[in-house]
Amino acid sequence: MRNFTIIIKVLLFSFTILSCSPGEKENTFEKKADKLLQKMTLDEKIGQLVQKNGGSFSDSLVKAGGIGSVLNEISVERQNHIQRIAMEDSRLGIPILFARDVIHGFNTIMPIPLAQAATWNPALIEQGARVAATEAASSGIKWTFSPMIDITRDPRWGRIAECLGEDSYLTSEMGAAMVRGYQGDKLSDKTSIAACVKHFAAYGWAEGGRDYNTANIPENDLRDIVLPPFKRCAAEGALSFMTSFNDINGVPATGNEFLVKDILRNEWDYTGMVVSDWVSIIQMVTHGFAPDEKASALLAMNATVDMEMASTSYETYLKELLDEGSISQKQIDNAVRRILTVKYKLGLFESPYTNPDDFPEPLNNEHLAVSKKAAIESAVLLKNDGILPVSEKIKTVAVIGPLADAPHDQLGTWIFDGSKNNSVTPLESLSEKAKSNGITLLYERGLKISRSKEISFPEKVKSISKQADLIILFLGEESILSGESHCRADIDLPGAQEELVNMVTASGKPVIAVFMAGRPLTVENVIEKTNAALYAWHPGTMAGPALTDLLWGAVSPSGKLPVTFPRHVGQIPIYYSHRTTGKPATNETWEHIDDIPVEAPQLSIGNTSHYLDYGFEPMFPFGYGLSYTTFEYQSIETDKTAYSATDTIQVSVKLINTGNYNAAEVVQLYVHDKVASRAPAVKQLKGFKKVFLKQGEKKTVIFNLPVSSLGFHNLAMKYMVEPGEFEIMAGGSSDTTLETGIVIEN
Ligand code: NOJ
Repeated sequence: MRNFTIIIKVLLFSFTILSCSPGEKENTFEKKADKLLQKMTLDEKIGQLVQKNGGSFSDSLVKAGGIGSVLNEISVERQNHIQRIAMEDSRLGIPILFARDVIHGFNTIMPIPLAQAATWNPALIEQGARVAATEAASSGIKWTFSPMIDITRDPRWGRIAECLGEDSYLTSEMGAAMVRGYQGDKLSDKTSIAACVKHFAAYGWAEGGRDYNTANIPENDLRDIVLPPFKRCAAEGALSFMTSFNDINGVPATGNEFLVKDILRNEWDYTGMVVSDWVSIIQMVTHGFAPDEKASALLAMNATVDMEMASTSYETYLKELLDEGSISQKQIDNAVRRILTVKYKLGLFESPYTNPDDFPEPLNNEHLAVSKKAAIESAVLLKNDGILPVSEKIKTVAVIGPLADAPHDQLGTWIFDGSKNNSVTPLESLSEKAKSNGITLLYERGLKISRSKEISFPEKVKSISKQADLIILFLGEESILSGESHCRADIDLPGAQEELVNMVTASGKPVIAVFMAGRPLTVENVIEKTNAALYAWHPGTMAGPALTDLLWGAVSPSGKLPVTFPRHVGQIPIYYSHRTTGKPATNETWEHIDDIPVEAPQLSIGNTSHYLDYGFEPMFPFGYGLSYTTFEYQSIETDKTAYSATDTIQVSVKLINTGNYNAAEVVQLYVHDKVASRAPAVKQLKGFKKVFLKQGEKKTVIFNLPVSSLGFHNLAMKYMVEPGEFEIMAGGSSDTTLETGIVIEN
């Protein structure tokens, strides 16, 4: 009888969904939440605002309706047990929302997010998130704390590994793709999980790249650079947001009414739920922004933070704050409604339990294929003197370096549910390749780990280098050297890796360097000594097969840098979308330190914005990445020369594959507002398309660029497209020179 009732309820529910328009559906969920809200006691309401870490609470608290969400409980048996208490033993039967950091894959690990951004392929990234969601959902996880869409211009910051790079537009597109992938086509599908865009906001703006540090940023830049990806993901339907640990111009994000209430809720009409970061509510006491935890709960409530992660200020003080009139019943109700609405949207009331048998096996071939494709497309070829792809004539290959066979480290940061036992390392794949191609493969790790200060078995390193026709060096950083709070002041290769490079290159044999790292490393001097360099980031489970295919030319590299690579750490911040300044440097005006005469007088004539020792240019610009083929950009044209504010500019870019390989290219579209009431950036990415061209093939790539997207926040904080001249540029990197001009009329 009970089953029959459930079936009827499910049918009625499905019918309601199918017969509603999206807006009506939204209302339906909210109405349901409202109806439930009316039955709830204050304690039950506050319970919904509580998120507890797995294992840190009792069954009786669940029974009392004292928990809304649990993070880090991944035993399905235990989850179902907790859920059964919530559904069957608690007064109102409200399901628990199980959450987890599913950052770049669950069991099948995709490349780190920064690497995924280097694919410039939103459809692929969406597929990766779909795989992650399906696997996570099969373990009962219905809410991931991803995507992380913090913009950063500082590779010292450890969490650069988790974000999507330095650019607002690229991050917006890739972040939105992840949201689509996690949430799927239908939120109530068993494989859909809620996305959580984080960290709201300016977390990547941390001073000096030190995690959790202050973000000082003018409101205009906040709105023009940091916030657009959040707005884009909100529009994509992301079900939740997470606040950030940092303060912004002195106000911690978790108690920041201006940011969360005024901008997110009121300006953007965001109705999803907002969760704090781990204990970030009570951290406002440490910030010196709240005198005690009660005051911090009040600040967070007033900012409209709905759920408290891990700390207990809401459950301890909200009642008191309500009784004394510091907060209203409406504030609590609004927060509860937003949380319940997410639970209704995810279909948790109808399907609260997880049966792993209802899902495809994790780590299946299809999932591994997506991971491999993402690893292939994320690798960026930085240098190639023609040694790549490896010729069939090469018969003895020496594989050297601490990252060649590092199954744990190739996975990257935040891999709670990934296992090194599933990793296929480059050494494994290359050994297989060698076996089937009659190649002799010689191997020595050289350094135990990336940080080792001594070379192990130096004689073997030297001898196999001498014996080989080709040396492939696997260099970089272990996964633990990036990620949360793992920042570095020195971003050179750690340990004795440079020594190892010198030992190997002394053999005079051709050397290919493959870098695995969670951030851009300052490796200019290393790259200079090699014949080719491939930046693979931390590529995930399928690093080995992906890199073998790339090195032997089964597929051409097509990754492009999502972040500028500095030559030296002292150049940071260095980013492509900078302002011109009144004294921009050029190669002609860069005064080299060694050219300065002794006792030279101080002169300001001819001085420009650069360093005497490292100039003004990066090692590699944003958007850069080579291919085995060559692409010639033939022309850029617009459909008109003058446009009004409501027009769309059609830009056509012609390119041809002039080389000897079939390959993909990322066509990038940049815009420069020539004169504006706030000095404009030299260029800004406004579009990109990844296209595949066979050898000799020509393509015309069309961009439709709304004039409305060319604006900025002026001094009155108004978003404006100011009339005047604009340059429109296209190319395979941000340092492109192919351009045309247009005018925006009044
Ligand atoms: C702290 C991190 O900043 C955040 O990104 C993460 O989701 C939470 N911890 C939960 O693990």
